[in-house]
Amino acid sequence: MKVLITGGAGFIGCHVVKLMVKKYPHYQIFNLDKLTYAGNLENLTEIENASNYTFIKGDIIDKAFIRELFQQEKFDGVMHLAAESHVDRSISGPDAFIETNIIGTSNLLGAALEIWKDNMSGKQFHHVSTDEVFGSLGAEGYFSETTAYDPRSPYSSSKASSDMIVRAYHHTYGLPIVITNCSNNYGSHQFPEKLIPLMINNIKHNKPLPVYGKGENIRDWLWVEDHARALDVVFHTGKNGETYCIGGNNEWKNIDLVHALCSIMDRKLNRAEGESAKLITYVKDRAGHDMRYAIDATKIKNELGWEPTQPFEKLLEGTVDWYLANESWMNNITSGQYQAYYESQYEKR
Ligand code: NAD
Ligand code: TYD
Repeated sequence: MKVLITGGAGFIGCHVVKLMVKKYPHYQIFNLDKLTYAGNLENLTEIENASNYTFIKGDIIDKAFIRELFQQEKFDGVMHLAAESHVDRSISGPDAFIETNIIGTSNLLGAALEIWKDNMSGKQFHHVSTDEVFGSLGAEGYFSETTAYDPRSPYSSSKASSDMIVRAYHHTYGLPIVITNCSNNYGSHQFPEKLIPLMINNIKHNKPLPVYGKGENIRDWLWVEDHARALDVVFHTGKNGETYCIGGNNEWKNIDLVHALCSIMDRKLNRAEGESAKLITYVKDRAGHDMRYAIDATKIKNELGWEPTQPFEKLLEGTVDWYLANESWMNNITSGQYQAYYESQYEKR
């Protein structure tokens, strides 16, 4: 089987590529990535020389290139993760989100249909999406596969649009598809624009910890390797045309999570208990900040047998350990462009 994984040099993608390359030595795994600021081949060193792995640098917005690649390689399956993924960047610059997340997805669908249209059997287009398409919850309730879409940020609305186009290809042309909508991921190799690695890096360097608004927004955190395992299960056993919600059943208020990280870091850095928490700084809230995300993952558990495995506290500590042990990884990506991004996002808050 020839499987194309898009966005495999990013945070979640690198875990998916590593899982697929190791678990399926008889597959040929292709990783297509543009290597934007968020893509980093250093994330893949442990499998870069594997005989069943090929990296292709390319842009999913480039329709002619995508068509040619599909014609040439005749992939049997696609796991589509490439995206612009950060809400704050979508607020300051929505265009790249519309281009990559909507146009890019449409290009992949068109190219897949072209090579599969005469024989759809054994083919799979797996679109990896987010729970943010469902909007924002109040104190009660959960998102599930039947929740109506209500995206609010340029990021989530671009992902919602791409989900719709994927479904349209299924209903109109019979393209075999599955869609997954997952909650917030954490773990190794996450770009430090996102909450957890940003806080770990700032605590380490004694920099202010920018908590948006009152810190009361809630996210449902899932370990990235559990997500990769879920994607493997859905790609192989998900029912054609179906959606699966994936979550950690693990809700945290932002401020409580930041305190938990401070406490772990105090221990790791031999600081007095409470020392790192003094860095917490409340800053101007994110525009249109969704209050709460939480997933009901009953369907994937009951139908496909997937559930999150590990206790959060232990995995969060393991995540902190990874960032502390991989100082050069963090230094490499926080030099240069990242500084300019950080200043533009945080100095005005
Ligand atoms: P990421 O930003 O870390 O990585 C995205 C990858 O896509 C990068 O390697 C980047 O170079 C690549 N890319 C971007 N634009 C491209 C283009 N035009 N052509 C080819 N490659 C391009 O993102 P992530 O956090 O790993 O998220 C991966 C997917 O999972 C996204 O589709 C995202 O919407 C979804 N998702 C993420 C989370 C989360 O918590 N991070 C949760 C649910 C769903
Ligand atoms: P983030 O990691 O950007 O994920 P998402 O917005 O996709 O859920 O943010 C997680 C939560 O943390 C979100 O409620 C915004 C908040 N946040 C901060 O309070 N400070 C920060 O510096 C960042 C990046 C996020």
